[in-house]
Amino acid sequence: MSMAPNMYTDRIAKLVQLSRERHVFSFTRFDWVDDISESDWWVSPELLTIYGTPYYEQASEQQRKLLSKWECINLFSLNVTGEQELIAGVAELLHTPLLKEANDYLHHFIDEENQHMWYFAKFCENYAGKIYGNKKLQLTELKLDPRLAVLVRFAQIFIFEEVGHYYNLKIALDERVHPFIREINEAHRNDESRHITFGRALLARLADGITTDYAPEVLQQVSTHLRKYVQVTIESLYNPAMYRDAGFASGMAVRSALLSDRNRQEFHSRELLKKVLALLADTHLLKEETSFEPAYQS
Ligand SMILES: [Fe+2]
Ligand SMILES: [Fe+2]
Repeated sequence: MSMAPNMYTDRIAKLVQLSRERHVFSFTRFDWVDDISESDWWVSPELLTIYGTPYYEQASEQQRKLLSKWECINLFSLNVTGEQELIAGVAELLHTPLLKEANDYLHHFIDEENQHMWYFAKFCENYAGKIYGNKKLQLTELKLDPRLAVLVRFAQIFIFEEVGHYYNLKIALDERVHPFIREINEAHRNDESRHITFGRALLARLADGITTDYAPEVLQQVSTHLRKYVQVTIESLYNPAMYRDAGFASGMAVRSALLSDRNRQEFHSRELLKKVLALLADTHLLKEETSFEPAYQS
């Protein structure tokens, strides 16, 4: 997959225009409800990490709903920590020559993420009294030239955003979910669809020609790194703390069992990661010959 330079600049110009036309001021935008009940759905039951496993079958509706609260808090907390990391990473890249054409858009990107981070954090504090910490496994630093370093950074952002987007879309449309939670998901998905369009364009543009510009060993390193990043992203959805908060006896045991569950693995590779893996393979950032085989350590 490649993208001609003029297509790339046109697409970015369009995104800048949309960000300006659809700009919202999130700080005064929402009517924050006083309380959200634990007998409400906070995420769709089918999106629970226990879905398709014996844990789901054995849980009562009340237990599923309680878990949906903590899964929602986990998803929103992941947004908070992920967006914080993203803003820092993108801010560092402002004004780099390699991203000259994207520079205006990067400012909108940061502006929008800053607002998201604010409302996700406020939501977690208001309705759960906490934000889950995200102990991100420190991935070994790669020694890469500026172009590959930018590619890896935006590939990571793309992975993070596509996975979040999957949940936002489904929850925004689900009438069973509490309306305020749907509204937050809807607000986020509107901005994120532009970020993802940008990510796709940027990756396609900058990755154009990498198979001739770099040695296979270098690209293998990038591929291995991104595969680990995908794995860490998936694992972060299975936060042991949320199982504990939902009343499961051992959060770690639940997490391990779920990560090695066949149905869950199929959901990851066939559904949740489908678009991510396709784009990363198309742009040669992930080696195509090896299919994604999650090797979860429990
Ligand atoms: Fe966001
Ligand atoms: Fe985003």
